[in-house]
Amino acid sequence: MSKHPWEGTEVLISGGAGFVGGNLVRMLLASGHRMKITVVDNLLSAEKNNIPADRRVHLLHGSIAANRILAQITDRFQYIFHLATFHGNQNSICDPLADHENNTLTTLKLMNHLKGFRQVRKLVYSSAGCASAVKTFGTPKSTREDAPISLVQDSPYSISKIIGEFYAMYFYRQYGLSAVRARFQNVYGPGEILGAGKWRGTAATVWRNVIPVFIYKALNRLPLPVENKGVATRDFIYVEDICRGLMACALKGRPGEAYNLASGKQTKILDLALAINELTGNAAGLKLLPRRSWDNSGKRFGDTRKARAEIDFRAAVGLREGLQETIAWTRENLPVINKCINKHGKHMGL
Ligand SMILES: NC(=O)c1ccc[n+]([C@@H]2O[C@H](COP(=O)([O-])OP(=O)(O)OC[C@H]3O[C@@H](n4cnc5c(N)ncnc54)[C@H](O)[C@@H]3O)[C@@H](O)[C@H]2O)c1
Repeated sequence: MSKHPWEGTEVLISGGAGFVGGNLVRMLLASGHRMKITVVDNLLSAEKNNIPADRRVHLLHGSIAANRILAQITDRFQYIFHLATFHGNQNSICDPLADHENNTLTTLKLMNHLKGFRQVRKLVYSSAGCASAVKTFGTPKSTREDAPISLVQDSPYSISKIIGEFYAMYFYRQYGLSAVRARFQNVYGPGEILGAGKWRGTAATVWRNVIPVFIYKALNRLPLPVENKGVATRDFIYVEDICRGLMACALKGRPGEAYNLASGKQTKILDLALAINELTGNAAGLKLLPRRSWDNSGKRFGDTRKARAEIDFRAAVGLREGLQETIAWTRENLPVINKCINKHGKHMGL
């Protein structure tokens, strides 16, 4: 492998205006190498200005499932990161067809389009650890990449993510498409904007993931909404680690394989809430709520051994450090975040 593997490459990122995508674009650009990055995004859960203004980056605005967009994706890309999704579980429960269109169909149409391409060194597909985790509130074992996949899934989003893995395997075996499946645990960090993009049917358009919601509420001196006494656990991974992991999947991942991008550590939601209140000096405490009826994947975390051994990936940023960075970023970006939240005011009765 060349000393500077990104030098002179063309990279395609579907969903590149989103939270992870925007961070990945910035990290690739920061590597300082000559490269061209094409972002395809329909701005369903993202803001256009999350894409850095840089002459190496070009936006194709539209769905990666649209024929007019696919026609512009010719056989010139060495690396493809497929991150486009219909965000997230609760919105997909509200609108499974929109999920199908922006989650399952995006993956099928993109992979089908790429199947004869010769320049692709790696397609990295962003899958989700929630789809392969055992559904339990008991004591979980870390989820390995070869864990059996259950037919029982909590949401259309989760079903779509796993169908994407089936397609990745199909196009790899049938057509030799060099697809690697990156299984993310719960990502957090700077760049996740509450309310980014368009209304998607539920308040989860705004309150999209637990860490940005807790931080935003804590900075606004509100009690943190903790469901089911906060007994659930998640494996939180900082967004810079995820982006390094995606790049490692692209450069070192074996086609046809899956790799967990995980910290390997469980954090209880109650402990997370208490830590965020402490770090932000929020005295408003907690607001205890009932369990979410759809969420059966109570406790889970990813097994990190395969990614460490095969692609030399391990998460480097500890939760406390990552939370401090995310709190600082949120403080600085409150005007932008408030603007995005307020866009949905009429739907949310604000
Ligand atoms: N953030 C997490 O905790 C997490 C966990 C597991 C998996 N993932 C996966 O990581 C990827 C990135 O997630 P994220 O957290 O950045 O979410 P995000 O919502 O910020 O990013 C998704 C992006 O896809 C775009 N998009 C939606 N439909 C599209 C379409 N039809 N064509 C092109 N673009 C489209 C959205 O506008 C957005 O920019 C997703 O595939 C997601 O399933 C994320």
